[in-house]
Amino acid sequence: MIKVDPTEKKIVFSTMLLMSVFVFSILYAKEKYRSDVPECVPYNAAYLQPKIDTLDDHLYRVFAVASMWQFEPSDIKIPAGSEVDIYLSSKDVVHGFNIAEKNVNMMAVYGSINKTTVKFDKPGVYTITCHEYCGAGHQFMEGKIVVTASSITKTK
Ligand code: CUA
Repeated sequence: MIKVDPTEKKIVFSTMLLMSVFVFSILYAKEKYRSDVPECVPYNAAYLQPKIDTLDDHLYRVFAVASMWQFEPSDIKIPAGSEVDIYLSSKDVVHGFNIAEKNVNMMAVYGSINKTTVKFDKPGVYTITCHEYCGAGHQFMEGKIVVTASSITKTK
């Protein structure tokens, strides 16, 4: 039998305990804040054409394209209660795609497509910000999602 120093035993034990707390916290946060890891979709150049598709009254599909220093479409209008599938890509460097109120945090990477689904229940203006430094115009890179109280409306 190998003899283990009691102090070492304590350290190993407390490390394992601490790691369990970390893992538990992540699982707890995932449930509580319903955070999801974005999906990675197989690449297809079609995703580089910015657009908003209305799939039905409250179901939308957005191809969001980031580039220096804008998001296209820059202005997304949807009615409250909508669920939006966002497919995100970049035309050039790495950009961020952050909707703070919705806990959306994605990276726009050239040559790859990231996807997430967001539900907008409350009317209001949700700002999309770029949170990856992407050059001189980084701090001005913004888009918005306008959630209207009534139904209808979409823009380019
Ligand atoms: Cu795009 Cu920072």
